[in-house]
Amino acid sequence: MTSPTSSVIGRIISMLVMISLLVAPSTGNFYQDFDIMWGDGRAKILNNGELLTLSLDKASGSGFQSKNQYLFGNIDMQIKLVPRNSAGTVTAYYMRSEGMAWDEIDFEFLGNLSGEPYTIHTNVFTEEKGDREQQFHLWFDPTADFHTYSVLWNPQRIIFSVDGTPIREFKNLESIGVQFPKAQPMRIHSSLWNGDDWATRGGLVKTDWAQAPFTASYRNFRAEACVWSSGASSCPTSSSSSWLSQELDSAGQESLRWVRKNHMIYDYCADTKRFPRGMPPECKVATSSMNCIDNSQ
Ligand SMILES: *[C@@H]1O[C@H](CO)[C@@H](O)[C@H](O)[C@H]1NC(C)=O
Repeated sequence: MTSPTSSVIGRIISMLVMISLLVAPSTGNFYQDFDIMWGDGRAKILNNGELLTLSLDKASGSGFQSKNQYLFGNIDMQIKLVPRNSAGTVTAYYMRSEGMAWDEIDFEFLGNLSGEPYTIHTNVFTEEKGDREQQFHLWFDPTADFHTYSVLWNPQRIIFSVDGTPIREFKNLESIGVQFPKAQPMRIHSSLWNGDDWATRGGLVKTDWAQAPFTASYRNFRAEACVWSSGASSCPTSSSSSWLSQELDSAGQESLRWVRKNHMIYDYCADTKRFPRGMPPECKVATSSMNCIDNSQ
């Protein structure tokens, strides 16, 4: 016969298990959440689904995409970029809707010679229109370890972050005629490919194939997100879905200013030569007072 104590303990344990199931962030398993799309064996899921690696050699790169489509989300991925001489390689990590007139939220990591900084390239497309690039150098070596790259996408804003530090905010400015992605669900995609016609120093530095295969690694995918299924989006209803209305608090705004001042290398909003017929409307508001960088080099 079970003693009363052990049944109480049993009940407590099963309660704890249930609670942990309810509150545990959905740390992903790559088998469960992603499909390898291309690369003929160059993309691999390892360690029971905890790790994914992409590789690139002269014959091909590789790529994967999420099984789910999301309409809004707070999405983290830890990535360790191609080490050493990665010049010419591009590791793209982005969300994109399907079909024509697509929406897209981009991180792209442009490799470099050993010891030279990676460039993080970001962009936002709405109905196929991009031209909203911002680029940064990082304040750490992104090849030495995994770092967390996040997209917070809610109806009011998109915030790109690195290890929790916001690097870019794209606000919903529909009120002044700027399109905002909010109607098309997106899948998460990543790929590693050869971009040596433009990636490193504008294409001057080519991929050194003697260094191949090049490898990027992924782990700890985490999504708090509204999942799209048969024409509707279902959002988590718990209190943990505060990301759906999250904005940058004053510490976040301060960090964003720090990144823009110290680590930004290109901002389309500061590139007046590029838009002779007038700057995009979103450049005239919001962050315009923060555009203190010089793109004239
Ligand atoms: C590579 O290094 C050079 C020199 O430090 C730098 O100007 C450039 O932005 C870096 N990144 C790329 C992708 O060219």
